[in-house]
Amino acid sequence: MTTLYERSDAADAAIGKQTVQNVYQQLAAEYDERIPGVGHADDMFTDSEMRFLMAKVHSGTKVLDMGCGTGRFTIPLALAGARMTGLDLTAAMLDQARTKAKAAEVDIDFRQGDMASLPFPDNSFDVVTSMLALMHIPLSDRQSVFSEIARVLKPGGRMLLCVKNGVFERMFSGDRFAEVDVTDVENKELIFTQTQAGEELRAPWFSFTPDELSLLFARAGMSVTHLKGNSPISVWLAEQVLADKGIRSVVQTLEATLSDVPPFNHLGYHLLVEAAKPL
Ligand SMILES: C[S@@+](CC[C@H](N)C(=O)[O-])C[C@H]1O[C@@H](n2cnc3c(N)ncnc32)[C@H](O)[C@@H]1O
Repeated sequence: MTTLYERSDAADAAIGKQTVQNVYQQLAAEYDERIPGVGHADDMFTDSEMRFLMAKVHSGTKVLDMGCGTGRFTIPLALAGARMTGLDLTAAMLDQARTKAKAAEVDIDFRQGDMASLPFPDNSFDVVTSMLALMHIPLSDRQSVFSEIARVLKPGGRMLLCVKNGVFERMFSGDRFAEVDVTDVENKELIFTQTQAGEELRAPWFSFTPDELSLLFARAGMSVTHLKGNSPISVWLAEQVLADKGIRSVVQTLEATLSDVPPFNHLGYHLLVEAAKPL
């Protein structure tokens, strides 16, 4: 029997998802200009996300990209030879992705759907990726999403994700990357400022700690095999400091090693995580 609490969770989740969908429907055409950001720190940050994925996905691998948006990662993975499916809640984001995939001459199966209820059979994919999208999941849907990931992965399959780090937010609630998109940590919202329409748009946004991720995966029968902190040093350095090529090079060398080991892997602005489903 459904309890009153469960009914209100379900209603809140539905409202949250509708808000997310409305926001991205309005933002789709300008999304690619906003998200990677324009500074040196932004470049290092995006570069490290891309390298994380590229090192773990090989040509021929069957991949589902959940919350694929405009295909920022889906299309480069397809160009690298992965067999890609992209799933997203928002039609306008998928329209952008389809246009870009056509221009890049890659064949990607884009589908509209909700990652809490994946429209794919069990054991369908070698890898599931999700970059910067899981924070939009209502808290009451979180475990369903991780269980869905485990269900659609083949035995031995892997999940690769990038999320905002809740441990970092405890140290500093300000933002460092893509400065027109601001996290309101207290109110659990992502605020899109300076939109082309001139209005501020807000969507629900819940960060993840490493412990929360381990628990969500464990409950889905999976285990974390690699935890990387993205930009644990450069996040604290001003753009003027990183403008110096020599400093940038030293920081990049340090981060290449430190971001994989404790405590630095727990301290990144974002977490890059690999988890495996048993064979
Ligand atoms: C910040 S964008 C990230 C897009 C892309 N992964 C990237 O890194 O550029 C978040 C995307 O997640 C999608 N999204 C949010 N909630 C979703 C859900 N429940 N199911 C599927 N997609 C969802 C949104 O529509 C949006 O396109």
